[in-house]
Amino acid sequence: MTSGLGLPTLTPPVAQAPVPTDERDSALLPTYARAPITIAGGEGTELIDDEGRRYLDFTSGIAVNALGYGDPGLLAAMHAAVDAGPAHVSNLFHSRPGEELAQWLVDHSFASRVFLCNSGAEANEGAFKFARRWGRSLGPAKNEIVALRGAFHGRLFASLAATDRPGYRAPFRPLAGGISIAERDIATLETVLRADTVTALIVEPVQGEGGVRVLDPGFLRELRALTAERRVALILDEIQCGLGRTGTLFAYERAGIEPDLLTIAKPMAGGLPMGAILLSAEIAAAVETGDHGTTFGGGPFVAAVARYVVQRLADPALLASVRDNGAWLGAALAALAGSDEGAVRAVRGIGLMWGLDVREPASAIVTRAREQGLLLLTAGTHTLRLLPPLTVTRAELERGVTILRDVLSKPLEKQ
Ligand SMILES: Cc1ncc(COP(=O)(O)O)c(C=O)c1O
Repeated sequence: MTSGLGLPTLTPPVAQAPVPTDERDSALLPTYARAPITIAGGEGTELIDDEGRRYLDFTSGIAVNALGYGDPGLLAAMHAAVDAGPAHVSNLFHSRPGEELAQWLVDHSFASRVFLCNSGAEANEGAFKFARRWGRSLGPAKNEIVALRGAFHGRLFASLAATDRPGYRAPFRPLAGGISIAERDIATLETVLRADTVTALIVEPVQGEGGVRVLDPGFLRELRALTAERRVALILDEIQCGLGRTGTLFAYERAGIEPDLLTIAKPMAGGLPMGAILLSAEIAAAVETGDHGTTFGGGPFVAAVARYVVQRLADPALLASVRDNGAWLGAALAALAGSDEGAVRAVRGIGLMWGLDVREPASAIVTRAREQGLLLLTAGTHTLRLLPPLTVTRAELERGVTILRDVLSKPLEKQ
């Protein structure tokens, strides 16, 4: 068996107590409904539990493990980063890996500057601050942030206010002010984006948690034109859909537009926590020394690993295989929708990011698929979500679809 890093696991010197799989026995705060298995290792596209059982992983740690498990290049980058020097020096000093990572992101995007942080929600909250900072330079009342129906931007205070999930929001009211949700149509947005009060519109080019909704490239172009005309910053949240998942390095490339701010995180550092905010020259020019900070952001260890990962995720051969495998997977899932007596009601997606609206509660299908050795996600109560590693093979996709077909063909009442 291998560890999460693909290293051989060491036999523990003393017998270990079993990890509690019932939340009531765990010292961890039970904010998650965890599956009752304990992951002990991983290899390629498979996760391995502590009883040695293997699972085909179409969750990738929620879009994080884009290179799968035990990737030799990633492991080498991690070891090299450990050997290179201190893991952390703080942003009181310069360090080479962070500088090189930021320069790489600038060289491969619209951005002129980068702020490195530690998670997706932190990236979005920073982007809101930078958009407000820029807005203030245009007018004293230009500070509102607008998000779209179906959006998910994180679970911290401002990102929660921009997240359209009533169940996540209700227990924490009042939410952060100056942030609202608007319908996903251009007529509404023409009214909502009043230039004098709105400073930013935040959009996921593919809404992930909201049901895997791929925004039409034409709609994204209209949003770009409208925000430019109203002097509203367009923030693209590519935390889930960016860095290769849709078959291009950045999802915005598909629409031929450029945002003013872009947020990325999940797959960026090969499983280490990291996020980034990419800023246009105009927004960056409005931000001053002391306006924002974060203790850990862009430390040398995580940045060196991220520098390796982003270059792997930009590899044209990997991106081509995401597009090819994605087209195959989309067609295979559409065939499921056509053949399963209404078990699948709709299929949406792009690249290696797919959602299936299902008749049964999605969580019941996730449980049965796991019992058959396939790990899936949900995106809402009746939507399954598939986010395999970007390195998944066609044979593994075929195996996953076969298991899914089998699970869907035996609805709950027939089992
Ligand atoms: C589109 C999007 N934005 C933001 C976030 C929040 O990221 P994090 O969980 O790293 O804070 C997520 C997480 O799922 C996401 O999918």
